[in-house]
Amino acid sequence: MNATLLDRLRTDLDVRRESTGLRRDLVASGIQGPTLRVGGEILVNFASNDYLGLAADPEVLESAQRALRDLGLGVTAGRVLCGTREIHGELEAAIADLVGAEDAVLYSSCFDANLGTFDALLGRDDAVFSDALNHASLIDGIRLTSARRYVFGHADLDELERHLAACADARHRLIVTDGVFSMDGDIAALPQLAELAQHYDAALMVDDSHATGVLGATGAGTAEYYGLDGRIDVLTGTLGKALGGGAGGFVAGSHAVVETLRQVSRPYIFTNAMSPPLAAAALTAIRIARAHPELRERLAANTSWLRTALQDLGYDLLPGEHPIIPVMLRGGSLARDVAAALRRDGVLAFALSHPVVPAGEERIRVQVSASHTTNQLELAAAAFGRAYAVMAGV
Ligand SMILES: Cc1ncc(COP(=O)(O)O)c(C=O)c1O
Repeated sequence: MNATLLDRLRTDLDVRRESTGLRRDLVASGIQGPTLRVGGEILVNFASNDYLGLAADPEVLESAQRALRDLGLGVTAGRVLCGTREIHGELEAAIADLVGAEDAVLYSSCFDANLGTFDALLGRDDAVFSDALNHASLIDGIRLTSARRYVFGHADLDELERHLAACADARHRLIVTDGVFSMDGDIAALPQLAELAQHYDAALMVDDSHATGVLGATGAGTAEYYGLDGRIDVLTGTLGKALGGGAGGFVAGSHAVVETLRQVSRPYIFTNAMSPPLAAAALTAIRIARAHPELRERLAANTSWLRTALQDLGYDLLPGEHPIIPVMLRGGSLARDVAAALRRDGVLAFALSHPVVPAGEERIRVQVSASHTTNQLELAAAAFGRAYAVMAGV
C-alpha cells in the first residue's frame, strides 16, 4: 500500500474517531420484520423503512424464491446487452401504473436513479433548483450535470422563486425535491411547487422514496396525497423501503423522459440488470400494497397512536403525519443517551446527530410500520416513558 496515502487515511480516521466517533454497523440476523435479532437480543425495530411490513410477507418471499428457481439469481449482463427479462418490463409497467405515469425505468437503486437522471436530461444551458434537505443521491446526481445549480433553503418557496426569476434565460428549469424528507418526515409542499413550476415554465422532479406505497389512497405517493394529477414531470423512487424492502429504484414519467434515460443514462446502461428475485418480490409487494389499503390505514393509526403517546410523555416532536417521527433531543449526547436507554429496554431507534442533522438539532428518528403490534407500540412508549423519567430526574 502506498505509504503517503496510508498515512493520510490513518490520520483522517484518527481525527474522525476523536471528533464524531467512527460509525459501526449494527449486525442483525434473521428475517427483517417488526422485530430484529441482534446478538442474543430481540429488539422491536423502529429503525427500518419497512412501512407496510412487506419485507417479511410470505407472498413476497415466495415470489422471490420462485423467480430464483425459474430465472436464476442474476442475469450477468446489463439491460442493453442480454440482461433484460420479461419480469423487468412487467415491474416497470406495474410501477408506472402505481404512480400514474406513462412509463417507468428500473435502476439498481434509487441512489443510481438519482445519479443517472440529471446529466441525462439537462445540459449546460439549463438550471436546476434543489431543496437544501434533499437526499444525498439527488445532491450527487446534480453534481454530475453541467447545468447551473441553485440550492434553496428547506421549503423556502420565496428563495426558490427568486432563483427561478433570475434564470429566465435558461433553456430548461428543473425544480427538485424529496416528496417526504427523510430526516424531518415532513411532506414537500407540492401544490405550491407545482404552481411555481407552471408559472416559471419549469419542470418538477420529486424523489418519492419515503412516499411510494405509503402516501395517498392507493399508495401512489405524495402527488396522490395532495390530489395533484400529472403535475410531476420526473418521479424517482425506491423498491427498498415500503415496496418489499429488497433493492431497486426507478424513474417514472412521460415516454420521452423514460426513453431518453434508456438511451443515455449511465447507471442504467453500464451496470447489471436487476436480479430477477428482487424484481419478482417488488412486483408482488406492489400488488399487495395496491390491493390492501388497510395496510396504509394501520400504518396511519400506528403512527398517530405513537405520536400521541410520545407527546403525552412530554417529548418534543417535529409536526407531521408521516411514519417518520423525529423526537427532538437537542444538545450534547442526549439523543444518543436516550437511544441507548431504549435499546436496553429492547427498542431499536437511532439517534441522529451532526453531520447527519445540523448541530443543535439532534434527534431520535422513530420509524413506524403497519406491522407493529399494539404490544410493540406500547413497549416503545413505555421505554420512552422510562427514559423521559430519567432525563427529567423524576
Ligand atoms: C429520499 C431518498 N432517496 C433515495 C434513497 C436511496 O434509495 P436506495 O436505497 O434505493 O438507493 C433514499 C434512501 O435512503 C432516500 O431516503
